[in-house]
Amino acid sequence: MSSNKKLFIQTLGCQMNDTDSQHIQAELEKHKGYTATDKIEDADLIIINTCSVREKPVQKLFSEIGQFNKKKKEGAKIGVCGCTASHLGHDIIKRAPYVDFVVGARNISKIKDVVDVKGSVEVSIDNDESTYEFSTAKTNQYRASVNISVGCDKKCTYCIVPSTRGEEISIPPEMIVEQVRKSVALGAVEVMLLGQNVNSYGRRFSDNREKYTFTKLLQDVSKVEGLKRIRFTSPHPLHMDDDFIEEFARNEKISKCIHMPLQSGSTEILKAMKRGYTKEWFLNRASKMRELIPNLRITTDIIVAFPGETQKDFEDTLDVVNQVKFDQIFNFKYSPRPGTEALNLADKEIPDEIGSARLIELIELHKRHLEDTMPTYVGKTLNVLVESLKPNGEVCGFTDSYLQVFTKGSDELLGKFVDVKITEATRTSLKGEIIS
Ligand code: SAH
Ligand code: SF4
Ligand code: F3S
Repeated sequence: MSSNKKLFIQTLGCQMNDTDSQHIQAELEKHKGYTATDKIEDADLIIINTCSVREKPVQKLFSEIGQFNKKKKEGAKIGVCGCTASHLGHDIIKRAPYVDFVVGARNISKIKDVVDVKGSVEVSIDNDESTYEFSTAKTNQYRASVNISVGCDKKCTYCIVPSTRGEEISIPPEMIVEQVRKSVALGAVEVMLLGQNVNSYGRRFSDNREKYTFTKLLQDVSKVEGLKRIRFTSPHPLHMDDDFIEEFARNEKISKCIHMPLQSGSTEILKAMKRGYTKEWFLNRASKMRELIPNLRITTDIIVAFPGETQKDFEDTLDVVNQVKFDQIFNFKYSPRPGTEALNLADKEIPDEIGSARLIELIELHKRHLEDTMPTYVGKTLNVLVESLKPNGEVCGFTDSYLQVFTKGSDELLGKFVDVKITEATRTSLKGEIIS
C-alpha cells in the first residue's frame, strides 16, 4: 500500500523496544501506507515507544509528548506505545488529551487497528502475540534482531517489566528460524535473539508442544545457511547450565560476548531481589565460561543501593567486579517502581547521596579494569565485520567478541570480514590496520 503519509517514531528503552518499533513501522507501512521520516514537522503520525524500567524516562514522556504536540503539523496524530503505555494506560490520555491512542508493549500487533481510532487504548497484559506474524521487521544492513519470546515470568522484586510485558510465552522455533532466514535473505549476516530471559526459552508455548530448550534453539538457528554470527540478550545467570555453556563454547557461530546480568554481588541482596542465585553460583558460572572460552567478553547490569544494601553488600558487588573483570557494565541506581515487591522495603531505602557515591566508585573501578584489559589487544590480529562508514575515512566494525574496531577504509569493505592488526586502544574501542 502506498500513500504520502509519514511516520516518525521515537524509541526509548531496551532492544526489545527497538524491535517493537521496527514491527510498528513495518505494520504501518504494509497496512496503512506510512513511510518513515526523521522530521517531526513532516510527520502525519508521531509515535513514542516508551520505557518504564526507571522513573526518569517516565517523567520524560510527558514533557516530550508536550513538545511533539507543539511541533507537529496541523492534523498530525500522536500515539504512545510501549511499557509506560502498558502501565499508565488511559491515564496517559487523561493527562495529555491530545494523545490519539495508547498501545501497550504486549499489544504491538494491534497497531494497524488503532491508528485511525481516536481515543483507543489497547493495553491488555494477557494478549498473546507469540504466533502473530509481523510484517518483516527491517534489519540494519548486516544485523537483524529477532524476538524469541514475549513477557517475563521472573519476579525480580525491583522490576516493572513483568507487569508491562506480561507472562512469558515463547515464540515457536519454526517462526524464529523462518524470521532468521528472511533476514539473511535481506542481507543480514548476524542475528540478535531477544527476550527478557532468553535461556528459559521453551518452557511455555501458546500451543501444546513439547519442551524445547534455548540450547536447541541456538543449534537450530545456527543451521541457517549464510548466517555468520548469533548473539542473544538477556540470558539469566540462574539458567546458565552446563549444557548451555558447552553449546555456547562449542558453536562457532555464537558470538563470544555474553551478557551476565549480576544485579548485585551480595547473596543477601540477591535473595531480596529474588534473583534465585548466589554470589558463588555467579562466580562459578563466569569462571567456567572463562575457562572454556579464552577470548570471552562478559558484560553485565548492576543495580546499586537496592533497599537494605549495606556497605558490606556493596563490597561483595565490588568483589565480583574485581574477580570477573567485566568488559562492559551498565550501572543503575535503584529506582522504586510502581507495583513492585521492593516497594515494601521502602523503610530500608538507601539515601540518594550514598547511592550516587557507590555508583561513582563502581564506575571508577570498572574504568581501571578497562585501562588494564584494553591495551592487551594491541599487537593482536582480530577478525572484524565492517558495518559502517565514518566521515573521517575510517570504517567501523565489531569482532566476534563484540569489540568495536576502527580502521582506514572505504564503502567497499562494508559487510566484509577483514583481519585487523590492532595498533591503539581506548577504554571502549580499538584502532588498527587491515592486513588482509
Ligand atoms: N530481563 C533483563 C533486564 C531487563 S531491564 C535481565 O533480567 O537481565 C534492564 C536492566 O535494568 C536490569 O538488568 C536492571 O539492572 C535494571 N533495572 C530494572 N529495574 C530497575 C529498577 N527498578 N531500578 C534500577 N535499575 C533497574
Ligand atoms: Fe525484570 Fe527480572 Fe524479568 Fe529481567 S528477569 S525483566 S530483571 S523480572
Ligand atoms: Fe524498558 Fe520495557 Fe524494555 S520497561 S527496558 S522498554 S522491557
